[in-house]
Amino acid sequence: MPPAGRAVVITGTSTGLGEACALHLSRVGFHVLAGVRRPEDGERLRKAATGRLTPVVIDVTDEKSVQAAVYEVTGLVGEAGLWGLVNNAGIAVTAPLECVPSELMRHQLNVNVTGHLLMIQGFLPLLRAGAGRIVNVSSGLGNVAIPYLGAYAASQFAKEALSDALRRELAPQRIPVSVVQPGAVLTPLWDKMSDTGNRALESAPEPVQELYRGTFPRFMESNGSRARSSRTTPDHVARVVFRALVAERPRTRYGVGRDAIGSRVLARLLPDRAIDRILDGIVTPVR
Ligand SMILES: NC(=O)c1ccc[n+]([C@@H]2O[C@H](COP(=O)([O-])OP(=O)(O)OC[C@H]3O[C@@H](n4cnc5c(N)ncnc54)[C@H](OP(=O)(O)O)[C@@H]3O)[C@@H](O)[C@H]2O)c1
Repeated sequence: MPPAGRAVVITGTSTGLGEACALHLSRVGFHVLAGVRRPEDGERLRKAATGRLTPVVIDVTDEKSVQAAVYEVTGLVGEAGLWGLVNNAGIAVTAPLECVPSELMRHQLNVNVTGHLLMIQGFLPLLRAGAGRIVNVSSGLGNVAIPYLGAYAASQFAKEALSDALRRELAPQRIPVSVVQPGAVLTPLWDKMSDTGNRALESAPEPVQELYRGTFPRFMESNGSRARSSRTTPDHVARVVFRALVAERPRTRYGVGRDAIGSRVLARLLPDRAIDRILDGIVTPVR
């Protein structure tokens, strides 16, 4: 069925991949219910959209906010229900695991995992009503856990597991679940990541900081240049999300970018120790 007028909820549309998805999906004819945390972001997005786009305030870590969004969307879509739910909102904590404060780890998992589950639980009745589907935006780091991105990778591995189990649980209800795994794409995520990483390292005791001073800043630098030189754009991701939303038989996983696809092949084909050797340079100080 063509998307014309059918409603799709997307979280985290204030910037980056979510913004690109919201604008692309509204352009091709969906009614986009764009999740934002601040009304002013929603207003800006609504003005930028060429098609139908209604901002909805959603903080995925706040049950009351999710419930209020479900209520609002139910009023907007009525009996037609939803064509799709795109769980895109996310944050990325980058720091040596030894330096990640527990509160920051909890927040990482809260936004990227529990938040997605809350959204899914809240919106499933509307997805059932609309014979809809779920698209979870994960990452190439849901395949291979890179040093200093352990907190983020843990959340993405969890999202992968959640998506696999959900796909199997919802198969009898004919609600497809797909994962979109982007590789590095330059978005505001990378600057936020760098700020959080530096703060986490600075909050560690001095002798601990000393252990990582020779490698972590270098990693952050190369990480940033990886994003800056990436050929994958937010629009590429938006087009793949669209494909996952309209495919007659949606795939379980869509990689976006050579790095994301490559990490999946690596994880499936190589033994752990071989991957350790490939990643070893990250944690080896230059002498
Ligand atoms: N960029 C990449 O290289 C890359 C690669 C692989 C996967 N991804 C994944 O793609 C998704 C989007 O990332 P991005 O690169 O577009 O990052 P981004 O520009 O930082 O966007 C993240 C979005 O998530 C929202 N968000 C954060 N916390 C939230 C919360 N508690 N409730 C609701 N929304 C919240 C942000 O809203 P505020 O503006 O209000 O904070 C923002 O709209 C993430 O899940 C990320 O893990 C990104």
